[in-house]
Amino acid sequence: MDFFAQQWTTYRTVVDHDLMEHQGLRAALSQALAAWFEARSADAPAPTLVDLGCGDLAQLGPLLQGLPLASYTGLDLTEAVLPLAAAQLEGAVFPRHWRCGDLLAWAQGELADDPNPEPVDLIHSSFAVHHLADADKLAWLEGCRRRIRPNGLLLWADVFRPAGETLEAYLQRYLQRVGQGWLVLSDAQRQLVQGHVGQFDIPAERGVIEDLAAQAGWHWQWAWQGSHNAEAMAVLTPA
Ligand SMILES: C[S@@+](CC[C@H](N)C(=O)[O-])C[C@H]1O[C@@H](n2cnc3c(N)ncnc32)[C@H](O)[C@@H]1O
Repeated sequence: MDFFAQQWTTYRTVVDHDLMEHQGLRAALSQALAAWFEARSADAPAPTLVDLGCGDLAQLGPLLQGLPLASYTGLDLTEAVLPLAAAQLEGAVFPRHWRCGDLLAWAQGELADDPNPEPVDLIHSSFAVHHLADADKLAWLEGCRRRIRPNGLLLWADVFRPAGETLEAYLQRYLQRVGQGWLVLSDAQRQLVQGHVGQFDIPAERGVIEDLAAQAGWHWQWAWQGSHNAEAMAVLTPA
């Protein structure tokens, strides 16, 4: 994932100009979390949250700061983003933990420094899991299912393909969107984004991923839909 190590400022520009609709996503995430907290009994212990592919938290920092958490763990493959994320949560009242590692290895309890993984209440991941092939997405869903507490929540924001759209058609559409619409980036930056998307993005097809999630023991609900038939958020609860 060299793109994120070397091109973080490009990704920041994309997010700052809301080209992937993080603002709508953040509002939906905030609503889903509020509903979950409201439904908990008053004496439930403060929940733990793990954020898989947390990035720099420039978008989510303020939302996370306000949550009554027992702890927050930010995990990312790109080590360089972790200090940026830590800065966004400086002053939060809950403890924060930062880990450089792979989100599939985390789900499978295979991180070297995580020998006896504790179950968690909340798992969040935005725009990171679509790099996994479908078989690995299933393994990730199964792993997260094993690691979630019975009343927990998996909040999965990502790019997804509409039912029936091939990966080739999706990529062509997305690359065109970047080429024609993301004009706030320089030509070179757009080409780098297109290269990254073309090489690494494997968004799951709706329907297919819902079936895989059911197979992994999750109940699936779409909670937000961006305007490009790509970005979306699903809220998963143990079935
Ligand atoms: C598009 S950014 C998203 C960052 C942030 N979640 C957001 O929504 O703005 C993807 C992030 O996921 C990380 N990532 C990608 N694949 C990963 C993996 N297999 N394990 C952990 N982190 C991963 C990248 O390093 C990058 O920081």
